[in-house]
Amino acid sequence: MTKIAIITGSTRPGRVNLGVAQWVLQTASQRTDAEFELVDIADYNLPVLDEAMPAGYQQYSQEHTKAWSAKIAEFDGFVFIAGEYNHSVQPALANALSYLNAEFNNKAAGIVGYGSAFGVRAVEHLRGILSELQVAHVQKTGMFSLFTDFENFSTFKPTELQAASVEPMLDQVVLWSKALEQVRNGALVNA
Ligand SMILES: Cc1cc2nc3c(=O)[nH]c(=O)nc-3n(C[C@H](O)[C@H](O)[C@H](O)COP(=O)(O)O)c2cc1C
Repeated sequence: MTKIAIITGSTRPGRVNLGVAQWVLQTASQRTDAEFELVDIADYNLPVLDEAMPAGYQQYSQEHTKAWSAKIAEFDGFVFIAGEYNHSVQPALANALSYLNAEFNNKAAGIVGYGSAFGVRAVEHLRGILSELQVAHVQKTGMFSLFTDFENFSTFKPTELQAASVEPMLDQVVLWSKALEQVRNGALVNA
């Protein structure tokens, strides 16, 4: 079965990110075409990148890197929950992504953005990082507003309109995750 991780983007005390991730997991879990799991970057206690060698070498010296690498390697695809900080990607997520490389290659991803303007600047900046990691990021995007999809800017209560943005993104992530399994297992070489 195709496995897709829903990955948090914030480790901030009081973050709303986890609530969004849990809601996306609940929504995605109603599907039967893939398995979904919430992966909370906060559980991996990743400090600001402390590996001497660039991730591409996969010469990991730290236990937290090995644990993070083993978890990400389990999945065929990802959904990143991307809140917006300073018109860009939350630093905890950018940091977590910097630890690894091959574990993400030739896999698919979708993004759920949130912020004062639906997190669109974080989403677009994240696309640049994902391109470098050879992740096929899908066109559809989950989009939520801090003003209308959260109560008091804290409790996630999406409007019907914005909640409907998630399923088309999941459709594309599942499809591309399955397609890229063929690339990773070599089925398309000399086909
Ligand atoms: C350092 C910082 C910078 C922020 N910059 C932006 C921004 O540029 N655009 C925006 O829409 N929201 C911005 N915000 C508001 C966050 O989107 C909001 O606080 C959100 O709850 C952050 O996600 P989190 O609670 O999961 O950490 C910023 C928040 C912080 C803490």
